[in-house]
Amino acid sequence: MKYYKWFDYSRMFKMKRKFKVLLTRRLHEFALAKLRKKYEITIHSGKIPMPKKRILEQIKNKDGLICFPYDIIDKEVLDSAKKLKSISTFSVGFDHIDIKYAKKKKITVGYTPDVLTNATAELTISLIMDLLRRITEGDHIIRKGQWTEIFGPFDYVGTEISGKTLGILGMGRIGKSVARKANCLGMNILYHNRKPTARKNNAKYVSLNELFKKSDIISVHVPYSKDTHHMINLKLLTKMKKTSFLINTSRGRVVKQNDLLKALQLKKIQGAALDVFDDEPISKTNDLVKLKNVVLVPHIGSSTSETRRTMAEITVKNLMLGLSNKKLVYSV
Ligand code: DGY
Repeated sequence: MKYYKWFDYSRMFKMKRKFKVLLTRRLHEFALAKLRKKYEITIHSGKIPMPKKRILEQIKNKDGLICFPYDIIDKEVLDSAKKLKSISTFSVGFDHIDIKYAKKKKITVGYTPDVLTNATAELTISLIMDLLRRITEGDHIIRKGQWTEIFGPFDYVGTEISGKTLGILGMGRIGKSVARKANCLGMNILYHNRKPTARKNNAKYVSLNELFKKSDIISVHVPYSKDTHHMINLKLLTKMKKTSFLINTSRGRVVKQNDLLKALQLKKIQGAALDVFDDEPISKTNDLVKLKNVVLVPHIGSSTSETRRTMAEITVKNLMLGLSNKKLVYSV
């Protein structure tokens, strides 16, 4: 027998195993190409969200995980993931991941803040304009053939935006960006946060009660946690002016959805615009869908082509850095 036939080369060169990565949904091709170059990747296809049973099965032998804000990465998943080194979520929110337990297991968690701040703030401003000027409502009226008389003095009148008071709940990155843009529209800004932040954009810090009492529009920008769960309930909504509006582009469960419905039906507030819901996708039979004074959009805060590409780029970078034991671009 010749020498080379039985010599174990893998020992000599210490063969490197390719890391295995699970994606719970397809990402942009350029991002997948980067991953494919280095790793063995498995992309979930079929039912979204990826069923928990499948995640539990698939994660067992994976070193990396790319997930989305609706994937529940709890203790059970993390315990099933015997080899997991790094999680990267395609979102700024990380309330779907048991961060404490991941840290205990020395699993890095990357996320995508900053890059979606502007897109989410732009959507917030768009929703304010849509709701107050009744744009979507007008569009529906035309499509249903209900615009039958020209230019009446009292037709489809909305609310002027300039001069109104915007109450920002949560003055983080997105809250600040909304304040900057609202300033340019001539709005007055009040805000409530756990602590007052540096005074910028003429924004004045007030208590939670004052925010709800004095604002013409409340815009929600707090992250979801057990402290903010159903933070906005009927008691708080009842403090608002009858002519006021609520905008939510953060997380659905910060608002007690049934209480909001009641507040709208009882005309405790004038309207609402929602990008996020208790349960997503919201059903078309939901009572909120029946209300004219509500604008609903399908969780599109970060959904611009520019931002979603950057999010894909950062998501992949975070994962790669985590798998090579380097500092992440954005680490939770
Ligand atoms: C996020 O990234 O958490 C947002 O909800 C996306 O719009």
